[in-house]
Amino acid sequence: MTLRDFHRTSAFVIVAFAAMHIANHLASLKGVSTHIAFMEIARTVYRHWAIESILLFCVAFQVASGLWFVIRGWSQRKGLIPWLQAGSGAYLAFFLLVHVGAVLFGRAVLQLDTNFYYAAAGLHVPPNQLFFAPYYFLAVTALFTHLGCAAYWQLQTASDSTRAFVVGGAIVAGGVIALLIVLSLAGKLQPVKIPANYKATYAKQDG
Ligand code: HEM
Repeated sequence: MTLRDFHRTSAFVIVAFAAMHIANHLASLKGVSTHIAFMEIARTVYRHWAIESILLFCVAFQVASGLWFVIRGWSQRKGLIPWLQAGSGAYLAFFLLVHVGAVLFGRAVLQLDTNFYYAAAGLHVPPNQLFFAPYYFLAVTALFTHLGCAAYWQLQTASDSTRAFVVGGAIVAGGVIALLIVLSLAGKLQPVKIPANYKATYAKQDG
């Protein structure tokens, strides 16, 4: 197996988690309590020590191998799709490092339940929304874009217009889902009241 085969295999694990994770965030459109109830059931699976260990190992491997591909192919890369794939992959590497680091920090150091409120708090303490709105929006859009590019290479025998439609469709679908999740976290689609202990993690930074 080549490094690229391992990258693809590890992607299946992350995508299986991410599909459930994004569905979990979309559940917040029905209310924060629906999101939390969904997460409590899902955690019984992904927080099992064996499953979480595999997931976190795959995340670390995906980030390292992905960054290696971005750097190694830098000078030979030509055309829109290779650059979209590399750009979305590089952003996902940045996002996954910061995101998973923040979740583990929230659990181990801040002793918080890293639920909806942990993700949403930054969007409710100005000016942190200037970072968190694009940060989350780009994460979901980059994931869909990256998968759209992977599908593009798989569809070798399809027409150019079909392949372009798959990539374009993935970007648009990712953008719409990302927007819904960010608006929901920001409390623009349903009422959101962030508990004081979650907001306090940002207040402390302000001094
Ligand atoms: C708007 C976008 C996102 C938000 C608001 C968000 C929020 C969260 C939250 C709150 C947790 C903690 C879950 C828990 O405590 O059970 C978490 C964990 C995690 N997220 Fe995300 N996430 C987003 C997108 C993504 C994406 C796109 C990926 C992957 C490509 C991802 C990968 C992960 C991983 C690997 C974990 C760690 C799971 C664990 O071991 O507990 N997230 N996220």
